[in-house]
Amino acid sequence: MSDAAANAAQIENWNLRTGEIWVRFQPRLDAQISPLGEQAMTALAPAAGERVLDIGCGCGQTSVNLATRVAPGGAVLGVDVSEPMLGLARSRPRPAGAAPLDFRRADAQVEDLGAGAFDAVFSRFGVMFFADPSAAFANIRAALRPGGRLSFVCWRAMALNPMMTAPLEAARALLPPLPPADPLAPGPFAFADAARVRGILGAAGFTDIVISPFDADLVGGTLEEAVELSLFVGPLATVLRDNPQLREPVTNAVRETWRARLKDGVVVIPAAVWIVTATNA
Ligand SMILES: C[S@@+](CC[C@H](N)C(=O)[O-])C[C@H]1O[C@@H](n2cnc3c(N)ncnc32)[C@H](O)[C@@H]1O
Repeated sequence: MSDAAANAAQIENWNLRTGEIWVRFQPRLDAQISPLGEQAMTALAPAAGERVLDIGCGCGQTSVNLATRVAPGGAVLGVDVSEPMLGLARSRPRPAGAAPLDFRRADAQVEDLGAGAFDAVFSRFGVMFFADPSAAFANIRAALRPGGRLSFVCWRAMALNPMMTAPLEAARALLPPLPPADPLAPGPFAFADAARVRGILGAAGFTDIVISPFDADLVGGTLEEAVELSLFVGPLATVLRDNPQLREPVTNAVRETWRARLKDGVVVIPAAVWIVTATNA
């Protein structure tokens, strides 16, 4: 497979359906997952003057946050394969005093990101989509100076994350039989197995690998907001895209499952992630 074709299916997906959905729901998705990104950013501890690379930066919230943390004197580059998401990232207001921030369309698995050009690499859920993760992390490591740091957040097992499972389970009786998922295929849960992640980072040449569980209660918005998001983002959304006639009955089932998690007017959803740090020794 040529370098250009390595991640063709994911690149198409993030430029069409999924990318457009992330742009449409960007404020809500940012609000929901930002506590998880913040935890990985705290672990990275970006300092003033540092150059930071944000992998799979998407619509750019974390890149902007990094740019405020490395000011004065630092710089941030966000890379992503999704043109619609990068478009939104480029249009975001930059806080006064933030360090220079640039965005570039690039497949982080194969494209030259700048040899030793960065002090630190960050990602919020942007590193689980590579066809060849070891090659991708070797390429990412090449962009770090000696001693440079890596920190990212990725999902633990799908079964631990009701944000994905609860809508699917609620609707199960209404859905056609679903094919079993390949746990190693590129996708949100490709890094659920910590031993696999450790192996990938080790094979790519990283050292000081630390993989820590982190749990948080996420705010899924009002009941209707949580229902809407479930119909457009996640595994149930994928099924509904192919079976649009099921949308109405499924909506009612999903509403009941989220109603059970209402607290003070918002849906509260537990999340389980890994915070992963490593060094380019
Ligand atoms: C789940 S989204 C996360 C986006 C963003 N980091 C956030 O937290 O809002 C995953 C992102 O990874 C990007 N991505 C997938 N494969 C990639 C690749 N090979 N190189 C760079 N970015 C990639 C997608 O386009 C998408 O923006």
